[in-house]
Amino acid sequence: MRHIQDKWALKAQKEGYRTRAVYKLQQILETRNFATQKIHSVFDIGAAPGGWSHYLKLKFPNLEIFAIDILPIEKIEGIHFFQEDVRNIEKIKEIALKIGTFDLVISDLAPNITGIRDVDEENIYELNLITLQAAVKLLKRNNYSKFIIKTFQNSNLKKLRHDVSLCFRNIATHKPAASKSNSGEIYLSGEDLI
Ligand SMILES: C[S@@+](CC[C@H](N)C(=O)[O-])C[C@H]1O[C@@H](n2cnc3c(N)ncnc32)[C@H](O)[C@@H]1O
Repeated sequence: MRHIQDKWALKAQKEGYRTRAVYKLQQILETRNFATQKIHSVFDIGAAPGGWSHYLKLKFPNLEIFAIDILPIEKIEGIHFFQEDVRNIEKIKEIALKIGTFDLVISDLAPNITGIRDVDEENIYELNLITLQAAVKLLKRNNYSKFIIKTFQNSNLKKLRHDVSLCFRNIATHKPAASKSNSGEIYLSGEDLI
């Protein structure tokens, strides 16, 4: 069967990015007007195959970038990558040493889908909460701290938005143009760690 690439995938190929997902991040960063000049360090959760980290490193070569995923990524010069489950993030010594030092935590994490709706919804909610808790620990406690997390439009979305609002101010919901309209994925962002 012929694979039909959409315009974002073609654009990514042409511009030398690893994934079409980079445009979702780009669009959220632009919408939020997150002042990149004030962002010196980023933690990328659910980073494989490395599209977001690679994009950020190309755009902002001086950024310090840490990344984690259960899957491996092809090496990106200057990125500190850990192949590990986010559930174990604090057990990684190099990461534990960086607690409270990041300006931006981004998560595009998406677990494998079982097809059983209740199981999938609980699974993503659990991982979203673990990611949120990790972000709260990893970020600097100041009003430049930013957080972006992918989740899904399901029965837990309201609950998650509330959980995020207990940790950050100025919460927003995003469905970037580069996110497929038939996908339930949606992003939440917040700033100014409470
Ligand atoms: C949509 S992909 C991320 C794409 C990435 N932003 C990019 O641009 O290349 C979602 C990632 O979440 C990862 N993931 C799922 N469950 C995870 C977990 N428990 N811990 C860490 N990563 C996980 C998957 O392995 C997958 O690579």
